Amino acid sequence: MKKLMIAVIAAVASMQAVAADQAIVDIYNKTCVACHASGAVGAPKTGNAEEWAPRMEKGMDALVQSANAGLNAMPPKGMCFDCTDDQFKALIEYMATAQ
Ligand code: HEC
Repeated sequence: MKKLMIAVIAAVASMQAVAADQAIVDIYNKTCVACHASGAVGAPKTGNAEEWAPRMEKGMDALVQSANAGLNAMPPKGMCFDCTDDQFKALIEYMATAQ
């Protein structure tokens, strides 16, 4: 019985992880994708770890700050006006990691 409970808890936990990722991908597909998929106007490309490396060196806090404030051709909040800092963090991790 105890083993079954652990299995159920583990299954629910992993489902939540997948759901969160899908929500982030949905936000990405509505907003950041416009520039970051193609590298339009000099945006670091999604899934291109090399282009993201010098950005990641600034540290996650600085990148979340840039996402909120905008940077050159990058509009404030990346056009996701209701995104939270945690969502920006997940979006940045998603874009900076090879797909
Ligand atoms: C209208 C185009 C556009 C959209 C939409 C956009 N970006 Fe960007 N983004 C850029 C450009 C251009 C740069 C490069 C800016 C530079 O370094 O001059 C950039 C850079 C960044 C950086 C690196 C900032 C740094 O300090 O080096 C982060 C982080 C980022 N974008 C996150 C996001 C997120 C998250 C979204 C979606 C919520 C998003 N962007 C949507 C154009 C865009």
